[in-house]
Amino acid sequence: MRERHRPDRPEDLRSHRWFGPQDLRSFGHRSRMKQMGLSPDDFAGKPVIAIVNTWSGLAHCHQHFQNRVEDVKRGVLEAGGFPVEIPVTALPENFVKPSTMLYRNLLAMEVEENLRSQPIDGAVLMGGCDKTPPALIMGATSADIPAIFLPAGPMLRGNWRGQVLGSGSDAWKYWDEKRAGNISDADWNDMEAGISRSDGVCMTMGTAATMTGLAEVLGLALPGASSIPAPDANHKRMATACGRRAVALVWEDLRPRDILTAAAFDNAIVTSAAIAGSTNAIIHLIAMARRAGVPLALERFDHLSAGVPVLANVRPSGAYLMEDFYYAGGLPALLTRIVDRLDLSQINVLGQTLTETLKTARVWNEDVIRSTDRPISSAEGLAVLRGNLAPGGCVMKPSAAEPRLLKHRGPALVFEDYNAMAAAIDDETLDVSPDHVLVLQNAGPRGGPGMPEWGMLPIPKKLVKQGIRDMVRISDARMSGTSYGACILHVAPESFAGGPLALVKTGDFIEVDVGARRIHLDISDAEFARRKAAWSAPAPRFSRGYGAMFSQHIGQADSGCDLDFLQAEGMTKEPEIH
Ligand code: FES
Repeated sequence: MRERHRPDRPEDLRSHRWFGPQDLRSFGHRSRMKQMGLSPDDFAGKPVIAIVNTWSGLAHCHQHFQNRVEDVKRGVLEAGGFPVEIPVTALPENFVKPSTMLYRNLLAMEVEENLRSQPIDGAVLMGGCDKTPPALIMGATSADIPAIFLPAGPMLRGNWRGQVLGSGSDAWKYWDEKRAGNISDADWNDMEAGISRSDGVCMTMGTAATMTGLAEVLGLALPGASSIPAPDANHKRMATACGRRAVALVWEDLRPRDILTAAAFDNAIVTSAAIAGSTNAIIHLIAMARRAGVPLALERFDHLSAGVPVLANVRPSGAYLMEDFYYAGGLPALLTRIVDRLDLSQINVLGQTLTETLKTARVWNEDVIRSTDRPISSAEGLAVLRGNLAPGGCVMKPSAAEPRLLKHRGPALVFEDYNAMAAAIDDETLDVSPDHVLVLQNAGPRGGPGMPEWGMLPIPKKLVKQGIRDMVRISDARMSGTSYGACILHVAPESFAGGPLALVKTGDFIEVDVGARRIHLDISDAEFARRKAAWSAPAPRFSRGYGAMFSQHIGQADSGCDLDFLQAEGMTKEPEIH
């Protein structure tokens, strides 16, 4: 554990290195503050708090951040700090192509370098939409500056003609109904305004709700913060409290690395299983842990998730939405149901242990947050499979799959990339049966590129019309946390890099046994070796720019998909000021 160095005097603040000395450089720094209409009374000797804002005109889930930042500023000022807004890249999940995952590490790098290179003492990290929580936390952890995470909060429930709609999950569901001819184009278009009808992130237990919740369990957000719906007035009060607390964090010298211990990550893994969290959390937690110096491996997820009951009755695994989860007591209430599996000595940004945090937590709706003797599913929230098809591992969410598919043997139907799949999947002459295993290649970190959320391959139209709604699907892609089905994801190493997934051919038999944690391509060793020898690497996806750098340095899913040079050990030195 690092020894904390509390800045006892204003001169001990990091920002004082910029503003304090009587030299030519500091003259420039102070005069430029004056250029902005600020006087030393505003900032001198006060913790400078960066409010790292992921708002943009296209950041659909973060539209309230444009105003919410003012609530944070108020808190910083109340506590005697000096707030500065630092806009960083927004990663609106629906708009950024080919995938926001291509840019998570770019945002992390941007946050880290912004915090390190400027006169900043502490930070409030405003994020929520899928990749922003891990990116902000990875950046602040590497910068090693006191920081608090401000979760964007979920949207209100969707509503369409009196029916409750959930982000993503109901879009997939009704899209299949439309493909089957059960709803009209007019109905489909009418639904658009009902499924996303307020500020905030997806209100199913998608990646955003999972990652903001896990940031809270890790200790980086205020207790209960992640469950508050974005439009709720409590969200504003929470934002102001974040501002106040950020100032105190600086005086206490409490940094992300002090909070992000191995036990904190274990708590997050257990919680993710109990909420049936997004499979994306696996990749992000590994990446965040490694930034904090915790060598988290895929096996830890399987080990800690085993036997954890799914208690959050939230779609896609359950029936309700995040708004209901909040009214039922939110994340602290859920944690009271799994205390025997948590390390309660872990501290959060308040410096409180989990024991202290949970003292006042209570479940207000027993159907939304279940007790351990009445889980919503006896199936597990997560399983890590291995075998000759995925020597580096792959993952699935058994609780979101039809149980009959958890042990399955079927012939492969292989698509060499997304376009090949899209061109064939609605062809009603496609030679496919419900027993087939759909395989998508070249959708991983380098192949996608950026490991897009293509892992919930559509059920072939021909089968949708027959009433089939789930099949075994295997890819090196990710899947939206709002998705569901027997989708086996994150196959490592990826096919584009020569992983065994690249060697599968249509008609090969594949065996999946989730109970035994096994995935197997049923061909002989000699045939396997013959195909391997015949395989040749495809041309890189990028010849220049950020994409080329990404392709050269990106890690595989089982190591968190971080850039190798960002995962390097040791801390970057503070900049010299000349
Ligand atoms: Fe932003 Fe789902 S699209 S959280």
